[in-house]
Amino acid sequence: MASFFFRCTECDSRYNEDEIRLTCPVCSEQQLPGGVARGVLEVVLTDAPTDWPPLRFSEIEFLHRFLPLSPTSLLPAIPVGSTPLLSVPRLRRELEMPRLWAKDDTRNPSGSTKDRASLLVVAKALEYGVGTIATASTGNAATALAAIAAAAGRRAVVFVPASAPEGKLIQMLAYGADVVRVDASYDDAFELCMAACDRFGWYNRNTAINPFTIEGKKTAALEIAAQLAPEFADVVVVPTGDGVILAGLAKGFADLQASGLIDRVPRLLAVQPEGSAAIVNAIRTRSDSIEPVHSAASIADSLTVQVPRNALLCLRRVRESYGTGVAVSDDHITAASGRLARHTGVFAEPAGAAALAGLEKALSEGSVDRSENVVLLITGAGLKDVTAARRAVEIPAPIPADLESVAATLTDSRQES
Ligand SMILES: Cc1ncc(COP(=O)(O)O)c(C=O)c1O
Ligand SMILES: [Zn+2]
Repeated sequence: MASFFFRCTECDSRYNEDEIRLTCPVCSEQQLPGGVARGVLEVVLTDAPTDWPPLRFSEIEFLHRFLPLSPTSLLPAIPVGSTPLLSVPRLRRELEMPRLWAKDDTRNPSGSTKDRASLLVVAKALEYGVGTIATASTGNAATALAAIAAAAGRRAVVFVPASAPEGKLIQMLAYGADVVRVDASYDDAFELCMAACDRFGWYNRNTAINPFTIEGKKTAALEIAAQLAPEFADVVVVPTGDGVILAGLAKGFADLQASGLIDRVPRLLAVQPEGSAAIVNAIRTRSDSIEPVHSAASIADSLTVQVPRNALLCLRRVRESYGTGVAVSDDHITAASGRLARHTGVFAEPAGAAALAGLEKALSEGSVDRSENVVLLITGAGLKDVTAARRAVEIPAPIPADLESVAATLTDSRQES
């Protein structure tokens, strides 16, 4: 529960929390319809803790002291975050990386990292006394908002592309959200949601536009640092769409560094699909401007955006961390999702498995060394998109219910004695 003010990431103007704030009023004058978000605000904490907690396991309370909440406000009663950092021994052996870790964010209540942003946004909505919270989403942010709004007794209105995977759609409907299924791209759904928030006065959770989305996602970095202490991560591999998870991780590590709790921040490796790689293209061409990918398409639906809204800040944060970006093919993502599940027991949706594909690509390019302390952020659960997962497996034909058929089927080494 920390005191804070907002700072514009473009012009450095400072704003108090004296009203509901989204982007910087000066820089957002330059906002183009459908363009990258201008005037994204970051939270600046003024009284963050400066010592690790004396007991490792009072971590949750400790981490909450980095959140910009008023002393009287409550987090919705749903357990977000505190996800395990897995030591993945079999994947370590496979990749010859003795210090590889997987941060298993599939274990959040709605099954993705997006729960972290939604938890804080809904907590702020409760603090501000607003009844309806809206977001556009490729699927997971909507599902996360739906879940946490349900726990908090608030209304969620979510705008998703009609192509959103059925599992995600069903999940958000089950949580009781008002689902606006838009017959257009995620980018179009985003613009529509922005306009609807203006028209109907809803609290706008749109990624990057609402500064608490970055702030909520930073908790993944706080946890990684606490879980690895006294070691440090050298690299964190981040599946990237709009670039808010990555900016959130950068913010978490920056807060810890400002508090003197870590003395260096990891390199951030942005991973995007080849069919939706606007941020990675800018990183690799050393460009400051973002070329939209007009026909963005990938099996990793969560990473499929034409114009990544948080591209400007994300690019900066990658460069400041001395990180880089890699684009991975859909076939590589599919193969990586199988490898991740078989070697770690973590079943990820394509966006989450993209972290492993990205690491493999970075190893082959030499931008990551096998001896480094590397964390894969596995951002979303596999059951959210079984159609995509189906591509990595072969469903066996049914057999008659007799032992001879069992013996005939299990002719391979998996037969157990
Ligand atoms: C599972 C998953 N991974 C990664 C991302 C990318 O996050 P961001 O858009 O903040 O870059 C998303 C966004 O929807 C997601 O749902
Ligand atoms: Zn500004």
